[in-house]
Amino acid sequence: MTHEEILTLGPDTAGLRKAAEILRRGGLVSFPTETVYGLGADARDDRAVAGIYEAKGRPSFNPLIVHVPDLAAAQVYCDFNDVAHRLAAAFWPGALTLVLPLRPDAGISKLVTAGLDTLAIRVPDHPVAKALLDVFGGPVAAPSANPSGRVSPTTAAHVLAGLGNRIDAVIDGGECPVGLESTIVSCAGTPALLRAGGIPVEAIAACLGAPLAQPDDPALPVAPGQLASHYAPKGKVRLNAPYAEAGEVLLGFGPVDADLNLSPSGDLTEAAARLFACLHQLDAMGAEAIAVSPVPDIGLGRAINDRLRRAAAPR
Ligand code: TXA
Ligand code: MG
Repeated sequence: MTHEEILTLGPDTAGLRKAAEILRRGGLVSFPTETVYGLGADARDDRAVAGIYEAKGRPSFNPLIVHVPDLAAAQVYCDFNDVAHRLAAAFWPGALTLVLPLRPDAGISKLVTAGLDTLAIRVPDHPVAKALLDVFGGPVAAPSANPSGRVSPTTAAHVLAGLGNRIDAVIDGGECPVGLESTIVSCAGTPALLRAGGIPVEAIAACLGAPLAQPDDPALPVAPGQLASHYAPKGKVRLNAPYAEAGEVLLGFGPVDADLNLSPSGDLTEAAARLFACLHQLDAMGAEAIAVSPVPDIGLGRAINDRLRRAAAPR
């Protein structure tokens, strides 16, 4: 699908109405969430969902997250157990995606789940995403709005730079406050972490009163989209670098002399919010070799390090 003119919509009533109208006729609309910008389509419409895979160049075995306005809407599509109810009560709306058994009568396109019998679902906590879900009135399938394998977008400008001629519209809601994708927890069997993200895994373990099974446990299913190379800026990335070597640009963390700094004060929340914007900026600067300061592997630092490891992985 190629579109001559992509609409940039305001996050106001007129913009939201237009966005909902585009979704209703099977189009693609990028919208802000608290985590990253999503690329939305009607999750019940095969042709619209196929358009998401096509626009992103995403492998069709990699299923999508469905966005709904509240728990009641989520229960129309998935079967909730005790663990899922506890997590939804504690963290929704918010940056937590639950993988749950798909209800047979859900009416969700099979392309969304890539044929799995589970569905990834979340209730976003962003005024524009919430308003769009309300005005549209249906389930919205939305991966991050970046070309497959590249850095996720945290501004409308990032979306336009990556997918500008492949989608119908973007709602400009400013910068995404969390800046990292949602944490994904499977509740379909033993509760398991499938992707570190915007809700620290420690907070989830505290809510459940037990640690979560980890994604590197070989006995557990993995999120099919967890490809080794992902979030890749154009330059080569070297991690845990105390300083830059000749020819490298330093992406710092904490009080270091760096070209760009995730958080000069060493604040992980700030670093999470800035990570993807910094990677986009390194691309814009034409950085060919990128050194990155060590980031502590606790709280949001786990999700930051997960993204950085994939950014540094061989391509
Ligand atoms: O914060 C977010 O989660 C953002 C915003 C837009 O909501 N969305 C996002 O979507 O990050 P995406 O497509 O970039 O990542 C979705 C991840 C993929 O790794 C996919 O494999 C996994 O969710 N996933 C989806 N359905 C699944 C399922 N049924 N079982 C296991 N993993 C699933
Ligand atoms: Mg993504």
